[in-house]
Amino acid sequence: MAVRKIFGGLLLLTFLTSGARAETGADAWLRYAPLEKLAAQMYSDLPGTVVVLGDSPVLYSAKTELLRGVRGMLGRSLREVRSLPQESAIVIGTLSALRGGSPNFLASAELKDDGFLLSTEKFHGVDCLIVAATTERGVLYGVFALLSKIAREESVSALHETQQPSAPIRWVDQWDNLDGRIERGYAGPSIFLENGNVRADLTRAGEYARLLASIGINGCAINNVNANPRVLEDGFLPQLARVADAFRPWGVRLSISVDLSSPKVIGGLDTFDPADTRVADWWKKKFDQLYALIPDFAGVVVKADSEGRLGPATYNRTPADAANVIARALAPHHGIVFYRAFVYNHHLDWTNPKNDRARAAYDIFHPLDGKFDDNVIIQIKHGPIDFQVREPVSPLFSGLEKTNEAIELQVTQEYTGQQRHLCFLPTMWKQVLDFDMHAGEGPTPVKDIVAGKTFHRPLGGYVGVVNVGMDENWLAHPLAMANLYGYGRVAWNPNLSVRVIADEWTRLNFGDEPTVVYTVERMLVFSWSVYESYTGPLGAGTLTDILGSHYGPGVESSERNGWGQWHRADHDGIGMDRTAATGTGYVDQYRAPVTKMYESLKTTPDELLLFFHHVPYTYELSTGKTVIQHIYDSHYAGAELAAGFVNQWKTLKGQVDEERYEEVLKRLEYQAGHAIVWRDAVCNWFFEISGIPDQHGRVGHYPGRIEAEAMQLQGYVPIEVVPRETASGGKAIECPPSEQKCSASYRFEGAAGQYEIDVEYFDQNNGKSHFRVLVGNRVVDEWVADDHLPATKPGGDSSTRRRIPDLALSQGDTIHIEGVPDGDEHAALDYIEIYVSPK
Ligand code: GCU
Repeated sequence: MAVRKIFGGLLLLTFLTSGARAETGADAWLRYAPLEKLAAQMYSDLPGTVVVLGDSPVLYSAKTELLRGVRGMLGRSLREVRSLPQESAIVIGTLSALRGGSPNFLASAELKDDGFLLSTEKFHGVDCLIVAATTERGVLYGVFALLSKIAREESVSALHETQQPSAPIRWVDQWDNLDGRIERGYAGPSIFLENGNVRADLTRAGEYARLLASIGINGCAINNVNANPRVLEDGFLPQLARVADAFRPWGVRLSISVDLSSPKVIGGLDTFDPADTRVADWWKKKFDQLYALIPDFAGVVVKADSEGRLGPATYNRTPADAANVIARALAPHHGIVFYRAFVYNHHLDWTNPKNDRARAAYDIFHPLDGKFDDNVIIQIKHGPIDFQVREPVSPLFSGLEKTNEAIELQVTQEYTGQQRHLCFLPTMWKQVLDFDMHAGEGPTPVKDIVAGKTFHRPLGGYVGVVNVGMDENWLAHPLAMANLYGYGRVAWNPNLSVRVIADEWTRLNFGDEPTVVYTVERMLVFSWSVYESYTGPLGAGTLTDILGSHYGPGVESSERNGWGQWHRADHDGIGMDRTAATGTGYVDQYRAPVTKMYESLKTTPDELLLFFHHVPYTYELSTGKTVIQHIYDSHYAGAELAAGFVNQWKTLKGQVDEERYEEVLKRLEYQAGHAIVWRDAVCNWFFEISGIPDQHGRVGHYPGRIEAEAMQLQGYVPIEVVPRETASGGKAIECPPSEQKCSASYRFEGAAGQYEIDVEYFDQNNGKSHFRVLVGNRVVDEWVADDHLPATKPGGDSSTRRRIPDLALSQGDTIHIEGVPDGDEHAALDYIEIYVSPK
């Protein structure tokens, strides 16, 4: 017995001191990992008793969270007392409850909305730690803030702090379909919906609400903005009520996206004309019915006249007519309409140089300023196009003075690497939010406008499109959760610096070890600009396949079609001329000082140059480099920096838990390989169209690369890859289904030594090919191409690198790559590269 005890103690000690524990990521930043002994001592005077003043589901959550957090981090069980404290205690409750309990209690600051107070002071005659707020939701936020401080080892012994959210609206949208698939979701199916219904088990929905509450999010729309009218069917409403029940204990209010044609499609009317009284009546009755089931229902999101959705244009009505008819039906219940400004014509005539999709939101909504009811919010994407890796700020933010606004940010990485590439977005969001729109006296940054401060609007704030899924760690890439955390933090306080946000998240997720904090923080903070450097130079937009996956390279897909994401690249130059003098006139949608900056080539910042101007490839940037050389250089630098992430992460082996270490490493290695695919595709495309060679001779020259089609082939046949720049030399090889197995061989003529081989193959989602690599008869690697990349054919989306490190090769060795096709995936190969192993 004694021996077992000692042994058990040793195990526990190792566990506590190694700082590495198995993690799935399911707890996100609410891990409540045990603090090291020394750190835990900082909290030895934390009261052992908790007093909850009041009784409600939200207060219950606050209390249980406090108990759970303190138990997890400090190993102490707080004692719950129901009466006023007789001894030092943590007291939680609303201000009115606290004043009721102790009339002398005066909160030092006025709190509004969901703000809270953390304060160590005398309460009811004893020393207490007070967590108080005007609303119960605020109390819950206060508890989360307190626990976050402990997790990050901040002192809580002399707290006198109030925190106030920047804006009343801090919501998330999910783009979940009724069948359970998620539009632009990259982490498994919906946590809310499945097979046309709300899931029977909503445990994850409740856990999600807890995560959201912990970062101050107070509303969530659960279904795709491309809404299925069925969500408003009578039979569906009780199902929605179940989701609202799962959210309620966490102060998160339910919202849904609705389709404007619902009165006709499911309501049996022959019209959905917003000016028709029968339509107005239908909306009214529908919401009366909904509120009878969900009294705290928050409101609805509307996408109309956009990307094929029906809208008021069908009846020659305006977005204001459409928004207001719904707003009036919601108003008696205090519900809100989020009407999306993402309205544009996707059949634009590309041959007309004056046409410009970027103009659409302002052209449509600015003339309607002041015509929207007070419970309508115009939800504006941060840029005028669509979540590209770099865009200027939407001019509509300063184009509405008498209308509520919310900024729409995208947490799900649709155009920014789909959670396979590391891309920490708060860096970008902060630039957007801090951008001065020059919309009044003194600075008027976007963050003040959306908060309602600049134009004195009653409502406004933030909407983040998140798209978590059933993947245990919510967003698939363990580091991608920093974007959800960061979104909540900027919505709460847009004045926080990017570093502070990254620092908080890193400490909450990986603990306090300085090298870990430093490394992860740095990787996060620089990752957006790294991603930008190999995917979307100089404001040209993400050079991805905009007609398909929005993932891999596809430069040409933007051109010559009605979608209007043109960069107008030809043999001589590139960029959209959006100037007033010679272009589309888009720049005029900004206030004068901003217009002036973008109108002139000289004052337009390099990073947005091609968004505003069409220039020759030889145009010199402020750095003295030509545009074309910048494109080459930034892509090479970007691919190297992406490879650098792998090395940086590897320094953390043993310092973070094995599970997340391996999971992140796998993704960073993949990213490093895919950054090369991007680099080569974009550089080759521009080299071909411009005819201007890379000053450094890299583009088109790949030392160590052996094209698969140049190898000795058995069974394998060469194929053309489209678009051609997405495979090296425009070609690959594939093993036709008529063959059981194919092979490609190469005789190595280099000197004997240690080498690294990169095999570039295509991993589609319609089969699981097997690959084997042999040197002579010796199998040196094998794998199954079983990833779920968004691709059914060889190309930039499926191109994947397999690295075989540290391989002994001698002159005359034959390297064989064997491929066994499966289904529609034909074990396609692009090339191999052989390098001397790095020392
Ligand atoms: C993008 C995205 C669509 C989405 C749309 C929107 O275009 O690719 O999937 O529906 O934005 O925000 O409405």
